[in-house]
Amino acid sequence: MNGREKEEYLREYEQLKKKGKAFFPYAIMKDSVMFILVAAVLVIMSLVMGAEQGPKADPTTTTYVPRPEWYFFFLFELLKVIKSPELVPVATVGIPTICMVLLLLLPFYDRGPERIPWKRPIASITGVMVIIAMAYLTYLGAAAGSPSEIELETKPQYEQGKQIVAQSGCLACHAIGENGSHGGLGPDLTEIGSMVPRLAIKRSVAVGPGIMPAYEGLGEKKLNQVADYLASLD
Ligand code: HEC
Repeated sequence: MNGREKEEYLREYEQLKKKGKAFFPYAIMKDSVMFILVAAVLVIMSLVMGAEQGPKADPTTTTYVPRPEWYFFFLFELLKVIKSPELVPVATVGIPTICMVLLLLLPFYDRGPERIPWKRPIASITGVMVIIAMAYLTYLGAAAGSPSEIELETKPQYEQGKQIVAQSGCLACHAIGENGSHGGLGPDLTEIGSMVPRLAIKRSVAVGPGIMPAYEGLGEKKLNQVADYLASLD
């Protein structure tokens, strides 16, 4: 922007300012009226229609699929992209905080008077890229495999063991194929059958080595089915 343009801009700004109205009380008044209207609509809706109640919480369920609300899918997916636990605070607190501060400081470092998007390529491209990234992560989060399902194919005789493993919370710590926790607390079980004998697998599941919980409570039959299934993974 050259000197002449700047002068013109300042002159226009002065003129507009003379025509304008003060923030207090004019804008505050409009905001307050709108706020009261919206709040009144919400109160009336909740009185007349009530809130939808889902099914009662069942602490014993093993088939519940924990999922965030859709507008948190991008954060949910971001957590999955970031594998190493040390980086999680950076991604969940650090980066959003930096972005917020950058946004707050925007008027101080972006002094350009241009408002037309294509005359502000850096700001426009950054904004569009953030929206695309969030939309993409939201899509990935919405399409992500269930944490209580194993997509890896198996022989029919191991189906039952596979179901038990899928629905017993093992995937919170272990990965099997694409599903479960990659880089989680427990070792990847995708090829466990080729590394650990069946009997040792069964003992591990029953006893729970280290920090792993014991699964003796599954009972002998289910433990055998789990061991059969895991031993078949190679
Ligand atoms: C809280 C996290 C957690 C859960 C839940 C969990 N595990 Fe583990 N698991 C671990 C950890 C950690 C280890 C490694 C322990 C060690 O060696 O100290 C392990 C080890 C194992 C091993 C032995 C692996 C080897 O290389 O010898 C098997 C088999 C196993 N888990 C199966 C299961 C199954 C099946 C389930 C579900 C019924 C399950 N785990 C649930 C954390 C978990």
